[in-house]
Amino acid sequence: MLEKDLIALSDLTPQELVSILDLADRVKAEPQRYRQSLSGQTLGMIFQKPSTRTRVSFQVGIYQLGGEGLFLSSSDLQLGRGETIADTARVLSRFVDGIMARVFAHSDIEDLARHATVPVINGLTDLLHPCQALADYQTMREQIGDLAGKKIAYIGDATNVYNSLLVGAMKLGMHCAIAAPEGYQPTPALVDRYRAEAVSETQVAAVTDDPFEAVRDAHFVYTDVWTSMGQEEERQARLEALAPYQVSSELMAAAAPGAKFMHCLPAHRGEEVTDEVADGEASIIFDEAENRLHAQKAVMLKLMGRGF
Ligand code: CP
Ligand code: NVA
Repeated sequence: MLEKDLIALSDLTPQELVSILDLADRVKAEPQRYRQSLSGQTLGMIFQKPSTRTRVSFQVGIYQLGGEGLFLSSSDLQLGRGETIADTARVLSRFVDGIMARVFAHSDIEDLARHATVPVINGLTDLLHPCQALADYQTMREQIGDLAGKKIAYIGDATNVYNSLLVGAMKLGMHCAIAAPEGYQPTPALVDRYRAEAVSETQVAAVTDDPFEAVRDAHFVYTDVWTSMGQEEERQARLEALAPYQVSSELMAAAAPGAKFMHCLPAHRGEEVTDEVADGEASIIFDEAENRLHAQKAVMLKLMGRGF
C-alpha cells in the first residue's frame, strides 16, 4: 500500500511504482471509467514557483476525476506573510481532500506532509520532482515496454529532475548515466543512496564528465534546463560551464540506434538542446508533458480514492 503522501519515489517499493504506472496506463486508455472516482473532492494546489505543466495537468486531472482544483499562489496565502507551514497544513486539511505543493526547500514539503491530515503530493522541490519522473517512466514504457536492462543517459546539470529519474531508474531495473561538468554533478552520497535502491546487482549508476561516454548504448537521452527556478543569479556561470553539454544531433547519433530524446520542459532551446533535436523525430517531449496528466491522475486515485 502507498503511504499517505507522494513526496519521493524512494518512499515507494518497486511494486508500488509499477502499480502507479500500470494505473496511469489504464487511466490514459479509458479516462471515462474514472470520471466520478474523486467526485466532490477538492485538491489544494500551492505554488511557490511558476508552473505551466504541473498546474494545468493537476487542475485538469482532478476535474476529469470528478473533483475540483484550487490554485493557491503562496504569495497570496498567509504563508507568504509568515504563517507557518504546519499551521497552513492543519488549516487546509480542514477544507480540502488533498494538497499538491511546489516549494523551494524540500524540508517544507516534508513539513507540510507531516502536519497535513490529507494526502500531500510533491509538485517539485529544489531536491526532487517525482511526478515528472512518473510521467517520464510511463512515456518510456510506451516506447519500449519493459524497462529492465535499458539505459537512460542524463546530460547536463544534476537537477531535481535527475534525482527523481535516477531513483526511479534504480527501482525499475534500468541503468542511469549522467554527464555533467565538475560542480554540476550529483554528490557521491546522493548517487550512493539511490544506487542502493537498485533491484539488481548489475545495474549501473554512472557519473562522468563526458557526454559521449554517457550516451553510449543509451535508449533515452534526457536533459533539463541549466538554470533551475531559484538559480537565476548563477545563469551566466552556468551557461559557460554547461555549454559543452548541449544535446545536439551529433550527441544523439552516439546513443543506441533509435534512441529517444526526453526533456521535462520548459526547454531553453539553443542552450541545453538544439531545435533540431527538440523538434526531431526522436523527440518524445510532448508525450512526456501529456503523461503528466495521466500519471498524476493515477497518483490522486491511489492517494485520494478508494480501492485503487
Ligand atoms: N515539467 C514541469 O514541471 O513543468 P512546469 O514547471 O511547467 O510545471
Ligand atoms: N530543474 C527545473 C525543472 C523544471 C520543471 C527547475 O527546477 O526549474
